[in-house]
Amino acid sequence: MAYLNENYLNVKESYLFSEIAKRVSSFTEANPDKKVIRMGIGDVTLPLEPLVIEALHRAVDEMGNAATFRGYGPEQGYAFLREAIQQYYSRGGVSLDMDEIFVSDGAKSDLGNITDLFSIENVALIPDPVYPVYVDTNIMSGRKIVYMNANAENGFLPMPDDRVHGDMIYLCSPNNPTGAVYNKQQLKAWVDYANAHEAIILFDAAYESFIGDDSLPRSIFQIEGAKTCAIEFCSLSKTAGFTGTRCGYTVVPKQLKKKTCDGKELYMNKMWNRRQTTKFNGVPYIIQKGAAAVFSVEGMKQAHEMIAYYKQNAKIIADALSEKGIKFFGGVHSPYIWMECPKGMLSWDFFDYLLSKAAVVGTPGAGFGVNGEGFFRLTSFGNRENTMEAMERIKKLL
Ligand SMILES: Cc1ncc(COP(=O)(O)O)c(C=O)c1O
Repeated sequence: MAYLNENYLNVKESYLFSEIAKRVSSFTEANPDKKVIRMGIGDVTLPLEPLVIEALHRAVDEMGNAATFRGYGPEQGYAFLREAIQQYYSRGGVSLDMDEIFVSDGAKSDLGNITDLFSIENVALIPDPVYPVYVDTNIMSGRKIVYMNANAENGFLPMPDDRVHGDMIYLCSPNNPTGAVYNKQQLKAWVDYANAHEAIILFDAAYESFIGDDSLPRSIFQIEGAKTCAIEFCSLSKTAGFTGTRCGYTVVPKQLKKKTCDGKELYMNKMWNRRQTTKFNGVPYIIQKGAAAVFSVEGMKQAHEMIAYYKQNAKIIADALSEKGIKFFGGVHSPYIWMECPKGMLSWDFFDYLLSKAAVVGTPGAGFGVNGEGFFRLTSFGNRENTMEAMERIKKLL
């Protein structure tokens, strides 16, 4: 008899996006003449930048030539990409050794895989509302979760509370779904808490490239003390449109060490290296060449043009909401706008109202956790024309 992991019985059906799809398709069937505008998507829409496309083409040609063909690469990523990432961090004032950087096929996989390194005795401290991957991966491992409230009172940025104990602390800044961003002082409080509690911060920086203010931290490693308590997950998905191309990286400092339940000390960089070399065979050479192009001076310039386009969409959304006196969070250093549902409406009621009256689709906040009730997520990843039209419709309606 092959017994199965019973923890999967505890993972909730991820019904949010399927429920949205169901409601949208019944609306379009009933109203075939109405143009539906989707403001709920978390995927990018602009194509890859020209420099990446050139690098991908060159790498494809190399693979077709016996002299430059590559087979298995280093599990941790090719040196050319790790060096490029190292230099990127160095420009942000963070000094990393190359072997603290692990190239991955995206932040989602590594956020899930990292749970391999932790005992199930740990308590995961997770904000609510939240990117569901942190919750589901810990439920799959059978770990206890304690939620911290993110709400309008704390600006959707929960702060450490010495009365609440957590061993694995998930922080995401800029945040999905709320768009809220921690400042350096706030992150320092988390780093101090983690060091005092011998806890680990799992810092999701997937949206760091949307930060447009140098005083805000793009990396947890800009905070003093973070190298003894944090692991950072990053992604080229939103930075450079790699959602379908797949590339990210995880930073595990060499000095980061913690104990097993019976008191044996282990270095997490070594553990992660062992895990990756055992269970992962690296990101394709072609993709890594494309990713390295992003980190060049010209590549970054092109990536910033894409980000500026999405941020301009975010501004259009934010301006329209401000004009109507609707309270919202995010939208400045983030592609997400987290708005309060008008007139005290519940998230799904507002979803139905917006769809039926304006043919605009967003994401009900309740789908991201209990504190999301009464809120609604709009994203800036659509095209300009649709964003403008959607906001005109919303302004007319509200
Ligand atoms: C907060 C957050 N982290 C991680 C990811 C996943 O990124 P990737 O495409 O690199 O797997 C997403 C994707 O939407 C996200 O919103």
